[in-house]
Amino acid sequence: MTSERHEVTDLPSDITRVGVVGCGQMGAGIAEVCARSGLDVKVAETTGEALEIGRTRLQNSLSKAAARGKISEEERDATLARLSFTTDLGEFADRDLVIEAVVENEQVKTEIFQVLDQVTRPGAILASNTSSIPLVKLAVATSRPDQVIGIHFFNPAPVQKLVELIPALTTSEETIKRAEALVQNVLDKHAIRAQDRSGFVVNALLVPYLLSAIRMFESGIASREDIDNGMEFGCAHPMGPLKLSDLIGLDTVASIADSMYAEFKEPLYAAPPLLQRMVDAGRLGRKTGSGFYPYN
Ligand SMILES: NC(=O)c1ccc[n+]([C@@H]2O[C@H](COP(=O)([O-])OP(=O)(O)OC[C@H]3O[C@@H](n4cnc5c(N)ncnc54)[C@H](O)[C@@H]3O)[C@@H](O)[C@H]2O)c1
Repeated sequence: MTSERHEVTDLPSDITRVGVVGCGQMGAGIAEVCARSGLDVKVAETTGEALEIGRTRLQNSLSKAAARGKISEEERDATLARLSFTTDLGEFADRDLVIEAVVENEQVKTEIFQVLDQVTRPGAILASNTSSIPLVKLAVATSRPDQVIGIHFFNPAPVQKLVELIPALTTSEETIKRAEALVQNVLDKHAIRAQDRSGFVVNALLVPYLLSAIRMFESGIASREDIDNGMEFGCAHPMGPLKLSDLIGLDTVASIADSMYAEFKEPLYAAPPLLQRMVDAGRLGRKTGSGFYPYN
């Protein structure tokens, strides 16, 4: 039971070769975290072009970390040497763990899990970074529902210390322990366990707050700057809710809200019309150069 306190595992991790599917905001960050921790990491994208964008994203992030003194130049080069790239999931045959981080779309993710189930060896863990899709749906799409788990990183993955582990109803305790050993003992993150319920722990608390801020802006109660400054200077949040929504991606915020609303029918989880219109307009936040704020 997740509601009972669990002992953190002190098992050594048996995972050395990791695959990451999707090299967008999260996939690139997850690949960086794994490679910086000494793991052999293979990253897959849809096309050669998307792969180049992802590779550049990763290289820039590592160069920034080196320029800021967070890692040495030798560490940056060694990390890059541990990363390889492909557009063919067939190359994941030797992976011990694959973490999927593609668009938040159930059909796309389900298809990827079916392919991963075919190409990876028995015993390999298949994980998703999904923010809102029930893990059990991805688990039952495979022939190894006991080895499917949610490993939910936070954005930006190389910076944020938290990882939520979400076992599906079908996930074995062994899989949870193996994932936990990796996250805690190799990636040096703080793992918390959450039930397979839309929003898990953090988004169930965070998303209604973000939606409230968007409703407040939409109804003209305060400017975007005053809403963000209110929470930054009044509550010591590092980033106000509209800036944070832009960072997460408004499509991602909307799709998490939709899935939480679909599950619980709570009005607090309903996406406000402005959010939906901004998504329709392609103003998705930082990643498209425009959201509640412009980004150049
Ligand atoms: N953005 C966040 O703050 C955040 C935080 C935690 C979890 N997540 C979750 O992480 C996942 C990815 O989100 P993101 O923000 O990185 O999205 P993103 O749009 O930045 O990246 C998604 C990437 O997936 C690639 N992709 C799509 N289909 C693919 C396929 N079939 N094979 C390989 N690659 C494919 C796309 O080309 C794109 O590069 C989503 O499930 C999201 O809910 C996002």
